[in-house]
Amino acid sequence: MPSAVLFRRMGPDSLADVTRILINGSKGRMGQALLACAKDHPGLRVVAGLDVGDDLEAVLPGVDAVIDFTHHDATAGVAALCATHGKALVIGTTGHSESEKAAIRSAAMHIPMVWASNYSTGVNTLFWLTRKAAEILGPSFDLEVVETHHRLKKDAPSGTATTLLEILGEVRKVQLEDALRHGRHGIVGARTPSEIGIHAVRGGDVVGDHTVLFAAVGERVELTHKASSRETFAQGALRASAWVVGRPPGIYSMQDVLGLR
Ligand SMILES: NC(=O)c1ccc[n+]([C@@H]2O[C@H](COP(=O)([O-])OP(=O)(O)OC[C@H]3O[C@@H](n4cnc5c(N)ncnc54)[C@H](O)[C@@H]3O)[C@@H](O)[C@H]2O)c1
Repeated sequence: MPSAVLFRRMGPDSLADVTRILINGSKGRMGQALLACAKDHPGLRVVAGLDVGDDLEAVLPGVDAVIDFTHHDATAGVAALCATHGKALVIGTTGHSESEKAAIRSAAMHIPMVWASNYSTGVNTLFWLTRKAAEILGPSFDLEVVETHHRLKKDAPSGTATTLLEILGEVRKVQLEDALRHGRHGIVGARTPSEIGIHAVRGGDVVGDHTVLFAAVGERVELTHKASSRETFAQGALRASAWVVGRPPGIYSMQDVLGLR
C-alpha cells in the first residue's frame, strides 16, 4: 500500500544553500538510519521518504538528489527516472545482476551518481589499504576474504566483499570468474596460488565485518573492519548526496567523495 511520507519544515528558510534529498527504501534498516542522521546535516533537507508502492516520479521534481537503499531489482528503474528528470543519485543498494548494472551505467551517462558498495570512511580506508598491501606483499601471499553479516541479509557475498575481491583481482591481474573460490567443501585438493577465497558468514545482528587475509609461509597479515552501527553508512551516503549534486554526469565512488583517489 502506498505510504510516501513528505516532509515539510515549518517557518521561513532559504532553499538556496540546501540540498533536497529523497530517501528511497525509507522503511528499511538503512532508510531509518538515514532519516535519523539527516537531522544532523544543516545543509540537507529530507523532502520525502518512499518505500514499496510509492510514486517516485510524482515526487522527483521537488528534489535535488535521491538516495537509494532498497533491493537490487529496484535500482535500475530508479536510475532511469532520475536520468529522465535530471536528478543526482546515490546508490547504496547492493547485489545487482550484470544486466541491472548495465542499465544503471547507461543512466549514469545523463546524471551524476555516487555508487558505492560501502559508504563508511573506515571501509573506504580498508579498500585503500587492501590495494597497498596486495601490491607490497606480492604473489607469494595467498588471498582470502571473510565477511560476516546479520541473519536477514539477502545477498552474498556482500557488496563490500565484492569490491575487496575486485581490488585484489586488479592487483593480481586475474579474472575473478576464474580465480574466485566460494567456500570449500569436500576433497577440494590443495589451494592453488592463483585462487582468491571468499567466505560469507551469516548470523544474529552483525552489522558488517570484513577481513582480508594475506597468508604466506611463516607469516600472515589480516586487515579487518567491523561496523557496529548503520550510522556510519548513513553519514557517508548523506555526505555523498551533498557532494554529487552539480557534478558532471558519470559514476563516482566514495573514494572520490573522500578525496582518496
Ligand atoms: N552501500 C552501503 O554502505 C550499504 C550499507 C548497508 C546496506 N546496504 C545495502 O542496502 C540495501 C538495503 O539494506 P537494508 O538493510 O536497509 O534492507 P531492508 O530490507 O531493511 O530495507 C530495504 C527497504 O527497501 C524497500 N524496498 C524494496 N523494494 C523497493 C522498491 N522497489 N521501491 C522502494 N522501496 C523498496 C523495502 O520495503 C525495505 O523497506 C541492501 O542491498 C544492502 O545490502 C548498503
